Amino acid sequence: MKADFLKYQAQTTPHPLAMEVSHAKGSYIYDTSGKAYLDFVAGVSATSVGHGHPNVLKALREQSEKYLHVMVYGEYAQSPAVQLTRLLAELLPAPLEQTYLVNSGTEAIDGAMKLARRVTGRKEIISANQAYHGNTFGALSLMNYEERVAPFRPLVGGIRHIDYNSFEHLEQITSQTAGVVLETIQGGAGFIQPVEGWLSAVKKRCEEVGALLILDEIQPGFGRTGTFFGFENYNVIPDIVVMGKGMGGGMPIGAFTASTAHMQLLSNNPKLGHITTFGGHPVIAAAALATVQTILDEKLMEQALEKEKLMRSLLIHPLIEEVRGKGLMLAAMTPSAEITSQAILQAQDEGLILFWLLFESRAIRITPPLTISNEEIEKGCRTLIQVLDKIASKLS
Ligand SMILES: Cc1ncc(COP(=O)(O)O)c(C=O)c1O
Repeated sequence: MKADFLKYQAQTTPHPLAMEVSHAKGSYIYDTSGKAYLDFVAGVSATSVGHGHPNVLKALREQSEKYLHVMVYGEYAQSPAVQLTRLLAELLPAPLEQTYLVNSGTEAIDGAMKLARRVTGRKEIISANQAYHGNTFGALSLMNYEERVAPFRPLVGGIRHIDYNSFEHLEQITSQTAGVVLETIQGGAGFIQPVEGWLSAVKKRCEEVGALLILDEIQPGFGRTGTFFGFENYNVIPDIVVMGKGMGGGMPIGAFTASTAHMQLLSNNPKLGHITTFGGHPVIAAAALATVQTILDEKLMEQALEKEKLMRSLLIHPLIEEVRGKGLMLAAMTPSAEITSQAILQAQDEGLILFWLLFESRAIRITPPLTISNEEIEKGCRTLIQVLDKIASKLS
């Protein structure tokens, strides 16, 4: 399978991990040789309720027996999408009420960027240095990383960058600005949390100049940081919230939510301001609904904070300089990119899945399913510490 994977499937890097996957259940992925891997990554924060959660599988089965795709997004009333958007409105603070369901995080970001321009009639969009919001042209244009974007220019115009957590840079948000797009917690940059008062200062500045604050909740969203949405930790309410990844319980989905007054502008003048065939797909919406209900019923948000405490108490080693992040969105920082890479690769040999972050090469990503047990956390951390011991003994 590996040879065909490399030959026929388009590659993203010259060095994929290329694990040959057989099946996955709970916190484990199994390869075709039968080896079990404890998953500390959750498909990069996506399988929030673990692999093959029974509630998600039941929802998929039941909905697929009723109907699959019947019509493009927005024409017919289909119960899974209606129930999901209604539940999101109940979970979100006012005035965030109407949700547009799409197929991925990056499409949701593009939709939010379009909405900000449509609402304000302005062109300029501001994002942060070291931000990652996705890879379609809109979302890619928000990324200020010349090496990654240079070959794809011209990008979407009118985009400027400020430093995340800089109070001084907030004056660059002006009456020209349509929207400010920020990750609630910067992911690729190294799980950087907003400093005290910064997000609310951004919101205040946006209000002063009539710009919209768009928060990307694609990683912290849906319980990972101890609250349903990450922004609830930082005393701020965005004008548009963007979701994806963990929302689908392992199925592909994205969404953006705004006030009804704002969102309805996508349906007139011009109508069809955003179009998607498969957005709100009934089977995927059913899986997302089951995922949200599972997060609430199993009290996974509350548990995320307890599990963070346990993780932090176990991730103590001379090669771990700091553990960044919140809840189960954690990054263990080693002294060098080389040590981080060795740790990730050797841990995989020992049956523990860890991963890199996009821009911070010293970070070891730790974003397990929210359903991970305390015993599994202890086992995984033990493995990582043993791997770091081996690396340290070679260094000395
Ligand atoms: C913060 C953030 N925004 C947007 C995206 C893009 O989501 P997707 O890969 O579903 O398009 C990602 C994906 O890694 C992300 O981490």
